[in-house]
Amino acid sequence: MINYSCVLTGKEPMTLKRSWHKVTIMCGIVGYIGTGEAAPIILDGLSKLEYRGYDSAGIAIFDGEKINIKKAVGRLKVLENLTHGGETMPGYAGIGHTRWATHGAPSDVNSHPHFNKNGTIAVVHNGIIENYIPLRNKLLGKGYEFISETDTEVLAHLLDYYYKGNPLEAITKVLHRVEGSYALGIMFADFPEEIYAVRKDSPLIVGQSKEGCFIASDVPAILKYTRQVYYVDNQEVVKLRRDHMHFYSVDEEEIKKEPVTIDWDANAAEKEGYEHFMLKEIYEQPKTVTDTLSPRIKNGEIVIEELNMSDEELKAVKKVHIVACGSAYHTGVTAKYILEGLVRLPVEVDVASEFRYRNPVLEEDAMVIVISQSGETADSLAALREAKSRGFKVLGIVNVVGSSIAREADSVMYTWAGPEIAVATTKAYSAQLAALYLLAMKLGRVRGTIDDALFASLLSDLKKLPNQIELLLGQKQKIQRFANRYVGAKDIFFIGRGIDYAISMEGSLKLKETSYVHSESYPAGELKHGPISLIEDGTLVVAISTQPALFQKTISNMVEVKARGAFVMAITCEGNKAIEKAADYITYIPETNPYFANSLAIIPLQLFSYYVAVGKGCDVDKPRNLAKSVTVE
Ligand code: G6P
Repeated sequence: MINYSCVLTGKEPMTLKRSWHKVTIMCGIVGYIGTGEAAPIILDGLSKLEYRGYDSAGIAIFDGEKINIKKAVGRLKVLENLTHGGETMPGYAGIGHTRWATHGAPSDVNSHPHFNKNGTIAVVHNGIIENYIPLRNKLLGKGYEFISETDTEVLAHLLDYYYKGNPLEAITKVLHRVEGSYALGIMFADFPEEIYAVRKDSPLIVGQSKEGCFIASDVPAILKYTRQVYYVDNQEVVKLRRDHMHFYSVDEEEIKKEPVTIDWDANAAEKEGYEHFMLKEIYEQPKTVTDTLSPRIKNGEIVIEELNMSDEELKAVKKVHIVACGSAYHTGVTAKYILEGLVRLPVEVDVASEFRYRNPVLEEDAMVIVISQSGETADSLAALREAKSRGFKVLGIVNVVGSSIAREADSVMYTWAGPEIAVATTKAYSAQLAALYLLAMKLGRVRGTIDDALFASLLSDLKKLPNQIELLLGQKQKIQRFANRYVGAKDIFFIGRGIDYAISMEGSLKLKETSYVHSESYPAGELKHGPISLIEDGTLVVAISTQPALFQKTISNMVEVKARGAFVMAITCEGNKAIEKAADYITYIPETNPYFANSLAIIPLQLFSYYVAVGKGCDVDKPRNLAKSVTVE
């Protein structure tokens, strides 16, 4: 486990009032200053951030006399080839960047780092400078020339404008002028023994080892070198030298900070022989679910200390609002069925981008839950702030320790999935489900909707999940053979009722994310109201049917699509014999409480998506146009 005490007691970010609605961190930053050659270290670090999504990369290295920059559109490999793995860029200090284009198309000139006019200040930037147009106009008026279309170039020239021989002073002056979000790595040719890091609303960490000091957007980039990291707070400036770091406020006052020890398995961010991170992460799910469940099951009871809510407070909750994006939203939809069915609590689930603008009615005694793997998704973070600004306490269910949502939520229930690298989530999704089961059972227990017998049976089923997931993973080859038949598919439909609808949403998303096959998920009963017109001879319909009370209903829908030529793949529970007549292909999941079926049914669906994507030759871990942390709204 990660020692996160310092993160949780860390200072509140300084600027929450404005600009937070346009955060972008899809890019990656790595910086290094030390005794080793900087370029290979930075390139290696950037390769660990590839999952974030990017379309070009660049690097700046101080060679003893001047700063040299190399940039290239495309995969990091192109930059690696261009610099012979960094060998052609000697030097002990540098900054590097992978860019996900926002302002200006992906191109060499728009890639970072950006220079000031005489190449003495280099900047890499994640985020968006919202007032870059007035700043650009002002600088144009002062004779500065711009060569790129980026907002970032403004920073290089503005630093130049304010630089009078003191880097810290120039940086803080720039911070006072810019609006928006940023994580920056900066170097000044006049100060070759220093590099600088600064951030606001875009994540950035720094770390130190015997060989030097590091800047990174995320832990995996530097995990190989150090486990002692500092989470940079909003508008803090870090001066990194070969053997020490200093932290400053925006008023140039020195700040003392405590490091956080990262306790991840050294191989956590490596493929370990798997062909893709996605497959590795699919296989990690038994452990992920165990790690999320077991610390919270004590002496046959569910204990969620991090909730910071007494039983009385839990009893007083009248409504739950769940807000999230992507797959995390799908776990929220599952939780709605569980909390309403099992705990009899009304639940609203919102996609965060809708929640934040629909002026939701939040009644007194409502509980707000934000679910996020990265803890950095812009819309989810904004939704959290919206709820807090209205006086509601927010529970974050978050995977990344020290992330913005984890820091700003009133309480955090961590999903102990470890670093998830593949863009399409699998293990964090399963960990979120596990956390939500615990929460639902806790609430049901306290509120008296789950009696002793039901609790004991739920607990027993909960504990069986990791082994049952393992069992399903054993069906890998069978699913792969089936998936190979659909490599050329044009459309695939996923249907289900109740929790099965929530599962079908995730199954469909996984497929389109990884394989670019068009797919839709529909509540099975709603099919007749439109989508059935799309069924043609041979169209694959994946019918999920894990809720015994709804078996017959879903079978009717399967029969309907089959009559129109569909090929029906069913995912159902062992013993559901009735389905055999309606399905062409069946995958069975082991017996569990219907409320937990999602955790099992999702496994064949993940494997199916993975193998369709592999069969099509897709870039499984880094699908086109997608990013792991979607931090633009
Ligand atoms: C992106 C990822 C998804 C993820 C979603 C929400 O779209 O590709 O896998 O579910 O963002 O991300 P979060 O980090 O908030 O869970």
